[in-house]
Amino acid sequence: MNTPDSAAADDLAEILAGLRMPAKRISPKYFYDERGSQLFDEITRLPEYYLTDTELGIMQDNIDEIADLVGYQASLIEFGSGSSMKTRVLLESLHELAAYVPVDISEEHLLESAKLIQSEFPQIEIAPVVADFTKPFDLPSPRIPPKRNIVYFPGSTIGNLERDDALSLLDVMHQEAGENGALLIGVDLQKDPALIEAAYNDSAGVTAEFNLNMLRRMNNDYGADFDLDAFRHSARYDADEGRVVTRLVSLKDQVVHLGGETFTLRENEGILTEYSHKYTLEGFAAMARQSGFEVERVWTDTQRLFSVQYLLRR
Ligand code: SAH
Ligand code: AVI
Repeated sequence: MNTPDSAAADDLAEILAGLRMPAKRISPKYFYDERGSQLFDEITRLPEYYLTDTELGIMQDNIDEIADLVGYQASLIEFGSGSSMKTRVLLESLHELAAYVPVDISEEHLLESAKLIQSEFPQIEIAPVVADFTKPFDLPSPRIPPKRNIVYFPGSTIGNLERDDALSLLDVMHQEAGENGALLIGVDLQKDPALIEAAYNDSAGVTAEFNLNMLRRMNNDYGADFDLDAFRHSARYDADEGRVVTRLVSLKDQVVHLGGETFTLRENEGILTEYSHKYTLEGFAAMARQSGFEVERVWTDTQRLFSVQYLLRR
């Protein structure tokens, strides 16, 4: 059985394995403790972080068509729901929604958000699930049997996964969608590298704080002794790979202790904390097809910065 203690032990083993690698790394899923979730919400309000406003605008401009495609009495299952900010557009407009199931790894933040949403939408069953979506997990059965499942994955969180992991997650979503289900997903697009880099290097320093919070979390939750003043934030767009590479760079030669192990970092050595992949429409469609999805409809903003896509099972 996967108890909270065994889950924490698995997480520690995963973190240690990443730090033992020649190119050190920690998965971006560890950004999201309570403070990390709050910092992410702050990021979404930054002028440079075009993703959230652009996606919200696309949703608002096309909500009637989205609602008609989804149809009546669907169950909406959202992966990485965070504060469910954009979801409110769907909750207001989808026809007689059977249930809303927000899934997130950030427990406190998820449960608080779900409580707030339940008070705003008392007529909809809200059934939050605390889970790591990269591992198997169970979904609740709504009280009203849904006519179909709609998997919702906004924010371009798919971009934080490497290709193989993204394909595995699309496979899981394909299963969760079921027979006549669909996937509604937000996918950030390739564009002027300067615009992308600015989004991950904001002038207020919130993204740097978000990145460094990973180390605070390692200290608080896993007993590490990272010195937060001895690292700096770095985010660079690799146009060949079509992804932002985010690192925590060591400002000096130093040693860090975690889980009874000692890790040596040289000056300028980075710990990879996140990739944010940017797709072309063709590239994403080809990947989705490999997982058994066919793109049915794509909505973008006028500048083609971001896309919201509706995919059906093939
Ligand atoms: N969907 C929201 C939030 C995006 S931030 C939006 O579009 O604004 C990414 C969210 O995914 C965070 O809330 C984080 O806690 C969650 N998340 C990241 N990795 C996860 C994982 N492996 N399992 C479950 N949730 C995860
Ligand atoms: C959640 N995810 C899509 C964000 C992104 O843009 O990759 C996380 C983030 N990292 C830095 N800023 C925002």
